[in-house]
Amino acid sequence: MSTDSELPGTYYPGLEGVISNETAITNLEGRKGDGDLEYRGYRIEDLAEHVSYEEAAYLLLHGELPNAGQLAEFDSRLRSQRQIPGELIDLLRHIPREAHSMDVLRTSLSVISHFDPEVNAISTDHAANVRKAERIVAKTATAVAARERLLAGQEPLAPDASLSHAGNFLYMATGKKPSASMTRAFDLSLVLYAEHELNASTFAARVTVSTLSDIYSGIVAAVGTLKGPLHGGANEEAWKVLVEVGSPDNAEHWIQDALATKKRIMGFGHRVYKTGDPRARILKVWCRKLADEIGEDKWEKIAEPIEREVTAQKKLPPNVDWPTARLYHYMGLETDVYTPIFALARVAGWSAHIIEQLDSNRLMRPRARYTGPANRPVKPIQERR
Ligand code: ACO
Repeated sequence: MSTDSELPGTYYPGLEGVISNETAITNLEGRKGDGDLEYRGYRIEDLAEHVSYEEAAYLLLHGELPNAGQLAEFDSRLRSQRQIPGELIDLLRHIPREAHSMDVLRTSLSVISHFDPEVNAISTDHAANVRKAERIVAKTATAVAARERLLAGQEPLAPDASLSHAGNFLYMATGKKPSASMTRAFDLSLVLYAEHELNASTFAARVTVSTLSDIYSGIVAAVGTLKGPLHGGANEEAWKVLVEVGSPDNAEHWIQDALATKKRIMGFGHRVYKTGDPRARILKVWCRKLADEIGEDKWEKIAEPIEREVTAQKKLPPNVDWPTARLYHYMGLETDVYTPIFALARVAGWSAHIIEQLDSNRLMRPRARYTGPANRPVKPIQERR
């Protein structure tokens, strides 16, 4: 049996602490250390206050914040590319309603790839990849909203070119023109979900294209990876926690019982952030604002003691998925669309990483430590038990 000393490296379960590549996209070490996040050198708190999702996506895909002219052109390209193929809408009508929304999104992006005018461009063509990434950003939101409408028994709505990326998605998903504060809060959540260094789905995307496969294959791999409840699926699970608790009166009892029975509480903890997720801190304020706007503070009252006790007793602060669960509920969105929303924001970050990987590629091929039996002769089939 192999030992670590015979392998060209050390075994790190879950790849914790392993540096697998360099990136100029996101810095999680930041200026203060743990709990800091920067997109291309800009602090997330600064971006959250000053830029729209369109500006954040431009920053991720093009490397710099846009000036007014660049933003207008980028925004106009996104708006003009929001339509999804009619063939995809036909297919969506036939997918069983029980299918998981992330599985449907995985299929949708695969179908969209067949209709991309540059589908056969060489995978390392940087300019073509950026153009494809812009189409992916524009169309993913439409595909997610179309499925939501069909699930609600309604016809998909055509994108509204007069609305921003965030406003248009809320309109297409709910059928209602959102208020200014709902649009602002949703846009903010997209900025915060847009990118996060080498999380599991981004890593899956980079591994996929490191074989010189194409950007869509990387995105589809990432969608499948994001689905899991330990990653993007946690925002849906966090909502289920709030529903299970049911009432503010039950929150204290529920959390003490959950902690005593060592329950994994979704929406808390993070592989990198040990003292707090800055995205959760930013969004918490908006949860309160929207709860006040719609006059429904039950969920804030349930969330508060859970957050306090998990942080105090387990030293596990909430991650970004804890506040988004409430935020999206206040916007009138159904739970099954929460993780697809994460994906429709993250396509910008995934694309940036895919492009960076393909610009300077080396095949990702780690090793495994073998733990099975050794030196076994193959017996003739009659002698095998
Ligand atoms: N609730 C209760 N206990 C927890 C939680 C939690 N949410 N998270 C970690 N722990 C405990 C584990 O039980 C374990 O305890 P033990 O050592 O006594 O067995 C210890 O903390 C370490 O847990 P790991 O899973 O090994 O830590 P890891 O760094 O791999 O976990 C993860 C990170 C997966 C995010 C974890 O905190 C978790 O499962 N959280 C809930 C799911 C979630 O919210 N995921 C979203 C992540 S953020 C994102 O993807 C955008």
